Amino acid sequence: MSRLTKAAYGAGVLFFLVSCAFSVFYGYKVVSHDLPAEAKTVEKYKYHFVLVPEELDNDYWRMVEEGAKKAAAEYGVFLEYAGPKQANIDEHLKTIEMSLASKVDGIITQGLSDEQFTPLINRVVEKLPVITIDTDAANSNRMAYIGTDNYYSGFMAGKTLIEDTNGQAKVAIITGSFYANHQQQRVQGFRDAVESEEGISIITVEESEISRVRAAEKAYQILSDYPEVNAFYGTSALDAIGIAQVVEKFRDRNQVYIIGFDSLPETLKYIKKGTIKATVVQEPFEMGYKSVIMMIDLIKGKKVPPVNHTNTVIMRDGKLPEIPKSAGEEY
Ligand code: BGC
Repeated sequence: MSRLTKAAYGAGVLFFLVSCAFSVFYGYKVVSHDLPAEAKTVEKYKYHFVLVPEELDNDYWRMVEEGAKKAAAEYGVFLEYAGPKQANIDEHLKTIEMSLASKVDGIITQGLSDEQFTPLINRVVEKLPVITIDTDAANSNRMAYIGTDNYYSGFMAGKTLIEDTNGQAKVAIITGSFYANHQQQRVQGFRDAVESEEGISIITVEESEISRVRAAEKAYQILSDYPEVNAFYGTSALDAIGIAQVVEKFRDRNQVYIIGFDSLPETLKYIKKGTIKATVVQEPFEMGYKSVIMMIDLIKGKKVPPVNHTNTVIMRDGKLPEIPKSAGEEY
């Protein structure tokens, strides 16, 4: 071995050992692999919480993160945002497991399905507090839920569609997931709202796996399989955007009614153009912000109501509506 190769080899071994030491030390403290710079000073924070969403790189969840980080900065919390980059149940569950193993002070996550999430949440809660956010696992022992009343929001979507179409529509639903609690509730609420309307029929329900591309593919398929469809209801943030792309390309936007969820910049763009006619606006920022405060209260032993609904309103004109402050609510 030349001196140069030996030196390179030595440097490699040293780098490896240092990385191992770092992972052992910080792995105990921090859940994610991409160590944020501030992780090194985690000790200076009062608490360490992890927010685990179903998809990190999703504009909706970035708003939840923003709210949570704001509260974290105000209350001395080290807030980690960790989970699957793109929706993936196994990775989601694994991140919760890792957070438990890392002995964080609290976990804020969705309760996506009773089958997969309830047993895990129940196991975690024996060791540390869990708050469900955006999607509740109401049958689990989670300490509290903060987020939309998902059944009611679906019901509102149904009522809005009836109003806007004068009770005449052949509807296709594209839902984020057939198995997630909140998506099921949004579909059920909608079904119940339109059930007694004779002029409204639900032609098909398809799944987008919360992917905009998949929503577009499904919308395209629906338009070719069911040419009578003249209305769409998208139940997760990217569904209506995918639907709008397809409708603009293959149909007259005035002939197809689209109602979606959330007010992401792209949704607003399509609302302003008149392609998406209405959207159910949730409060992701508030959910994130309040979840951190609730977690601190739980740790301090304060009584926190088990169910804390954030507001939902319908937007039709692209302007964010005044969201009413719910009187008497603690969070
Ligand atoms: C839902 C989130 C979901 C997101 C997907 C939102 O409407 O509330 O749970 O992850 O859509 O884009």
